[in-house]
Amino acid sequence: MVSKSTLQKESSANDTVSARWNNVVKRRSFLQNLGVIGAAIPAGALLAAPGKSDSGGITKGDADILRFLAAAELIESDLWQQYNELGGVHGGNPAYILALQNLDGDMPQYITDNTDDEISHAAFLNAYLASRGAAPVNLDKFRTLPSTIATGAKPKGRLTNLMNLKVDTSWYTRYRSTENPDLGATFPQAVTIVNEPAIPLSDADTPPGQPQPVPPATPQEMRMQAIANTASFHFAMIEQGGSSLYASMCLKVTSLEALRIVVSIGGVEVNHFAVWHDKAGNAVNQPLAGVTDPETGVTFPDLNANPMKELYQTNLIFPEPTDFISEEGLPPCSVIRPTLTANAGAVAAVKALTDNQLFQGQSSEFFQAVMALATAADAAQRGKD
Ligand SMILES: [Fe+2]
Ligand SMILES: [Fe+2]
Repeated sequence: MVSKSTLQKESSANDTVSARWNNVVKRRSFLQNLGVIGAAIPAGALLAAPGKSDSGGITKGDADILRFLAAAELIESDLWQQYNELGGVHGGNPAYILALQNLDGDMPQYITDNTDDEISHAAFLNAYLASRGAAPVNLDKFRTLPSTIATGAKPKGRLTNLMNLKVDTSWYTRYRSTENPDLGATFPQAVTIVNEPAIPLSDADTPPGQPQPVPPATPQEMRMQAIANTASFHFAMIEQGGSSLYASMCLKVTSLEALRIVVSIGGVEVNHFAVWHDKAGNAVNQPLAGVTDPETGVTFPDLNANPMKELYQTNLIFPEPTDFISEEGLPPCSVIRPTLTANAGAVAAVKALTDNQLFQGQSSEFFQAVMALATAADAAQRGKD
């Protein structure tokens, strides 16, 4: 016999499901009205049974995950394109390129290749969604933020703002620590980067034809080097976020094909992060360390001189083994961290990028749209339709 309390529990569970479904419907119509996702989603695609999704169609949860990832990749593509226009292989700002090359002679090539990768991720995810009868994501209406007026940048609307960043650099100490953010640990900033541009703002501020000696000699050379150094920490911050996001999302996908996509793209985010981690270390190592931006006061100290060596040593770029799953009984393991939804999921990713001031100047519609996509992705559950 079913007890009264069981019935009550079931009924409240049904209420929760129906409330969630209503929210999903509202979210979808909100996103459709904005033109962020297409209006025509075949019912078969939305209602496909979990077991059927490997051979065509796609579960709602998988579509929500891949849609948020497509949005994240469009955002990544937008910021990387700005870096690429100024500092890539065909970049148009010679002094910015020289300052980046003070970190590694191959920086322009890496920037261009990272840009290509993000554009391919966004295009593939959207094409895959469409091929499985699910609506792709389009953020074009939010390409409203201005480009920098510095030499090299194309005058066009952007999704992201690289001209006043607050870069969270705690990834640097997190990956050197034996503690795990998923078990509650917090980590100090490696460098304090607040209200600092990551791309040149104007030719008056940083002349594109100036030299970039090591160490920089004039205030404008110091300013440009600080901007390039900020970019290097931002590169790693973005890609470690992608590494955690994909690791978090792969725990939620239902179809093996979606899992294959999430794991395979996620691995490339990790690859990017590893390279940028190494390059950022060169901004806080000799002979370049000690640069201060004369405009903002942001300083890139010699982290090898920090007394807490293990948390700061610049060549400790491979992840330190850390607590994983549980603090008790299991040995430390070298892993991507965080990976829990609360710390690494879609909403956490949007919040981190927002705190980063990457979307400074964006409309409230943009935040609502991206947060709606993120909430849907985080709500996806493995094995559910
Ligand atoms: Fe990507
Ligand atoms: Fe990436």
